[in-house]
Order: sequence, then structure tokens, then C-alpha cells
Amino acid sequence: MTIIVAKPGEVQFPKGLEGAIARETTKGYVDGKQGKLYYHGISIEELAEHSTYEEVFYLLMYDKLPSKEELSILDMRMRQYREIPDAVYEFIKDRASGYNVHPMSVLRTAVSMLAPFDDASEEQSMAAAEREAIKITSRMATITAAIGRARRGLAPIHPDFNLPHAANFLYMYLGEEQDDFMNRLMDVLLILHADHGCNASTFATLVVVSTLADMYSGVVGGISALKGPLHGGANERAMAMLDEIGDEENAEAWILDAIAKKKKIMGFGHRVYKAYDPRARILHSYAEEITRRAGTEHWLRIASIIERVMIEKLGAKGIFPNVDFYSGTVMSSMGVERKLFTPIFATGRVAGWTAHAVEQLKDNRIYRPRFIYVGPVNVAYTPIDER
Ligand SMILES: CC(C)(COP(=O)(O)OP(=O)(O)OC[C@H]1O[C@@H](n2cnc3c(N)ncnc32)[C@H](O)[C@@H]1OP(=O)(O)O)[C@@H](O)C(=O)NCCC(=O)NCCS
Repeated sequence: MTIIVAKPGEVQFPKGLEGAIARETTKGYVDGKQGKLYYHGISIEELAEHSTYEEVFYLLMYDKLPSKEELSILDMRMRQYREIPDAVYEFIKDRASGYNVHPMSVLRTAVSMLAPFDDASEEQSMAAAEREAIKITSRMATITAAIGRARRGLAPIHPDFNLPHAANFLYMYLGEEQDDFMNRLMDVLLILHADHGCNASTFATLVVVSTLADMYSGVVGGISALKGPLHGGANERAMAMLDEIGDEENAEAWILDAIAKKKKIMGFGHRVYKAYDPRARILHSYAEEITRRAGTEHWLRIASIIERVMIEKLGAKGIFPNVDFYSGTVMSSMGVERKLFTPIFATGRVAGWTAHAVEQLKDNRIYRPRFIYVGPVNVAYTPIDER
């Protein structure tokens, strides 16, 4: 292989591998120009209306909608795998209760802790990869709910075998079974976050599993990438903005001032979408009902003013609301604390991480891009005393 040695800036390349093709996929497609998102060809609008998280997971994993029997087998397996070892509950109780601890840090370690308790985690076969994917996807919800409870000083609630995935998550987190509207909304949130192209966390998962490390390691890679504020976390900051504005009377002046000062408005703009993010539109349609129930309509009224002004002023530049603009309002109104937004994002996205990981393993080649070396060459070693 040629060693590339160049002067800094001499060789042109897109930073952050922007536009580079990582691999072919049949999982999902983000059409940023048209503002469309598809999972294996089916639009996110249709899936949000008719599907469930379990079914979407099947679709992503196996590239087809399941028959009743296939869905019931996957659903049953997810229910059976839900419980986590006592040691993981103990760790969560011990570490997540401090409000200064980042819940993504606890999620990352808890998922990593699952591996040594799973005798089958090192098995190298496609069947094992799929099985581990189902286990981890199922257990992430248990871990996230336990983290959410520990942060409030509450004991974890063990999974209820009789509930579907989203309803069980809300039960474990909020402490009681929720009604159909809340359960459906949770399902929709998980569906909307399940996959989104070659984003940083999905790519991180692929890099890890391409070394033939186990599925847990891959998912830990995904969680680690999602922890960063450039990937997860914009919804938390969008909520902080709504709080700062405080009152709908202030909203228009606040946003005009922020635009004039060229501030980045959280929950707007996207690297891929240059049109309205379809996930934001879907969440907006639920926001009215959930804010009415929670008595948090003021958030939605402020958000509507911000959206109108932003589109008037910046829509021509391709700046529109993204999923994070409404997911914060929706989740807060459901009674979810802000620090849990990103772990919930991960709890949905794990379907995409693991489905892409299995696809990678079917046709694997280790990821190995290269650097352009722009440092000095032929430098003599200087003994420490002479430096
Ligand atoms: C997501 C993001 C990083 C994409 O950045 P990007 O691809 O560099 O954005 P673009 O190239 O489309 O930006 C085009 C122009 O719109 C501006 N712009 C982009 N997002 C903006 C925002 N949220 N608020 C105000 N202006 C914004 C840019 O500053 C740029 O202005 P310029 O032409 O004067 O330089 C960026 O939109 C952002 O930081 N958004 C806020 C955070 C957020 O919501 N993240 C969650 C994404 S799901």
C-alpha cells in the first residue's frame, strides 16, 4: 500500500466521511429532498399509522412484513428475553440515582454488563447474531426504564410478560399500566426512532461488528456514539429553549432575535432533510392530544409560533423542524424526564443498529478507511534528557 504523505490541506476530502458510501443496504432510505423516510420501502407515515415496534423490528431484520405467526414468534421471544440479571439492576440502582450521572453512561455500561451473563454471546453464526439482536433490543427497554426509575430514587419494576414492548416499557418506567393512547404514542416514538440511514451510531455499530466482535459490543458502540450532543440530545435542548421563552407572548420576538443573531435553533435543520422531517409531522399530530391531557398546551403554542417564523425566515434555505423539535414536547407531556430522552432514542434505534449489524455480517468486510498523513517524516529520535 502506498503511504500518502501530504502537506496539510493539500489533498481534498470530505470531512466526517460526508457523502462516502459505507455499504449497500435494504433496511431503510432517507429521502432528504422530498422529506420521506422508508423502512424497507414502506413509508414511515404508513408504519406509524398501522404498525408496531415489534413488527417494524421484524421488517428491518428480515426485510419483509411478518405473517401473524412470524410476528407472534418474534413477539414471544422479545417477551421471554426481557428480564435482566440482578447484578445489572444493582449497578443501575447504585449508579443512576445520582442526578449528575449521565444516563447514557449507565445505559452503555449496563448493556455491556449483559454480555458476560449471556453464555451464548460469543457464538459466531448468523442464527446467533439474530438471536442476540432480539435479546438486546428487548432488554434495552428494561434497562432504560430501570435507569429512569433509579434517577427518581425508585426501585425497578420487573417486566410484565403480558404486555407488548412499548406498553411494557411505560409500565416499567411510570409504575402503572397506561391507556391505549399513551401505549400507542410510545409505540410510535419507538417506530420513528428505529432507523435512519448511515447515521453516526449505526455506522459505529457496523465498524465494531465488522471486526466480528459480538453484538453487545456493537450496540455499546452505537450507544457511545449516540451519547454525544451532536447526535442525540437536541430534543432536550429544544425543551430548554421552550422553557427559556416561557410565554407565547415572547415567542415571536425571541425567535426573530435568535435568527438575527444567527443562533442555531434546536430542533431545526438536518444534514439529510432539506424538507419537513416526516417524523416531526407525525409527532406534531400527537402533540395536541398529549399536551391537552398533560396541561402543557403552552409548549405547543410556543412551538407553533417558532415553527411558523422559522419556516418564513429560513424555509427557503431548507431549514424545517426535525424529529427533535416535537419529540421533547411529546415525551415531557407523557411524564418522561428530559435526561431520559436519549436513552429512549437508543431503545428505539437499537432495532436499526442490530438489523444493520446482521446485514453487515451476512456480507462482512472489516471497515478500514485510511488517514492522509500530514505530519513530519524521517524525524530522529531525541533521548529524553536532550529534549
Ligand atoms: C443538524 C445540523 C447540524 C445540520 O447542519 P448543516 O447540515 O450544516 O446545515 P445546513 O448546511 O443545511 O445549513 C444551511 C444554513 O442554515 C443554517 N442553519 C442550519 N440549521 C439551523 C438551525 N437549527 N437554526 C438556524 N439556522 C440554521 C446554517 O447556519 C446555514 O446558514 P448559512 O447558509 O448562513 O451558513 C444543524 O441544522 C443544527 O445544528 N441543527 C440544530 C440541532 C438539531 O436540531 N439537531 C438534531 C438533528 S436531528
